[in-house]
Amino acid sequence: MYKKTLIYCAGAVALCMAGVAWRPARIDTDKGLKDYYKKYFPIGVAVTPRELKSEEGKLIVKEFNSITAENAMKMAPLHPEENRYYWNDADSIMAFAQRNHIKVRGHNLCWHAQAPAWMFKDSAGNDVSKEVLLKRLKDHITTVASRYKGKIYAWDVVNEAIADDTTFLRKSKWSQITGQDFIAKAFEYAHAADPKAALFYNDYNTEQPAKREKIYKLLKGLLDAGVPINGVGLQAHWSVNNPSREELEKSIQMFSSLGLQIQFTELDISVYSGRQGGQLINGQQQQVKSEFTPEMEQQQLEKYKMVFEVFRKYRKNITGVTFWNVSDRYTWLNGRGRKNYPLLFNADLQPKKAYWEVVNF
Ligand code: XIL
Repeated sequence: MYKKTLIYCAGAVALCMAGVAWRPARIDTDKGLKDYYKKYFPIGVAVTPRELKSEEGKLIVKEFNSITAENAMKMAPLHPEENRYYWNDADSIMAFAQRNHIKVRGHNLCWHAQAPAWMFKDSAGNDVSKEVLLKRLKDHITTVASRYKGKIYAWDVVNEAIADDTTFLRKSKWSQITGQDFIAKAFEYAHAADPKAALFYNDYNTEQPAKREKIYKLLKGLLDAGVPINGVGLQAHWSVNNPSREELEKSIQMFSSLGLQIQFTELDISVYSGRQGGQLINGQQQQVKSEFTPEMEQQQLEKYKMVFEVFRKYRKNITGVTFWNVSDRYTWLNGRGRKNYPLLFNADLQPKKAYWEVVNF
C-alpha cells in the first residue's frame, strides 16, 4: 500500500513537471467535493426527483452535502391551484436528503417566473388587489416554509426582483400589483413561518456594476427597514468570459460590507461567450458548435480555478456554493439548438479536468 502510494505521488509530481493537469493520488479518490471543502463551506447541487433514483443519486451522495430542488419547490409546480398543493416531488427530495444526511437549500418562495397564473387573477379574470395578492403570498409562504420548518437551512425568499434595464424593479405581476412591498413582506412571512432558516435575496448578473449597485441599494433598504434578511444569493450563471476576478471580488466585498452572508446559489460556467448562462450577446447568432473542444475545456478550467480561488479567499463571508445541475449529461443550458458543458462532471458522470483544478489547493 505504502509502495503504491509512493508510486502514485511520484507519478503526480512527474506529470505536474511535464505540465500535465494535476490528478490526485489514488488514496484521495474516495473524497468528494464536499470533503475537499469541508473546512470552507457546503457544496450543493440542484436536483430533479428522477436523478435521485438513477445513477446520479450515488454521485450526489459522494460529492455534495447540500441539495436544492431545481424546480420542485417553485410556486407553480408546488401550488398549481389556489386550493391544491402538489408535494410529491418536493417531499421526495426532502426524504432523499434526510436519508443521506444532506442539507437542503430551499428555492424559492417568490419569483416572477414559474408563478401560477391564478395567483394574480380573480374569478372574473381581472388582476387581484394588492391586499389579495399579499394575502395569497402569505398563505403560500406560510404553508411551504412551515411544512419544511427546521429541515431547510436557507431559503431563497425573493428571486430576481431587480431589473436588467435602467429601471430599478423588474416589471412583473408582483411589482405591478404591490409596488416594492412584496419583497419585504415575503421575508416577514418566511421568518414568521421558520424563524431559524437563513433568508436570502437571490439574483443573477450580480457582477455587473449597474445591477450590483441596484441590488446593493435594495438590500441596504431592507436592512435599514429591519426586514429579516440574512444573506444574498449570487446565482453565478457564468461563462468562460465572465466574470473577471476583480468584478467577482468587488461583489463579494460590497455585499459582505452589509453584514450579509453570501452564497453562490446556481453555479455553472457556460462554454459559450455571453453575459448570462451562455445567452448570445445582443441576440446575435454565433457559430453553433456542439462539441466540447480542447479550447473550451482549457478556458473553462481556468475560470473554475479562478472562481474557487476567490471563494476560498472569502471563506469567512461565503456560507455555501451550489452547482446548478449535476453533470453535463443534463443541464438547463442545453437547448436553443446546442449542447452546453457547464459543470464539473461529464455526460458519463466522470470528473472533468476542471474538477481537479477545483480540488487542487
Ligand atoms: C431553471 C431550471 O433549471 C429549469 O429547469 C426551468 O425550466 C427554468 O428555471 N435562475 C433561477 C433558477 O433562479 O430557478 C432557474 O432554474 C435558472 C435561472
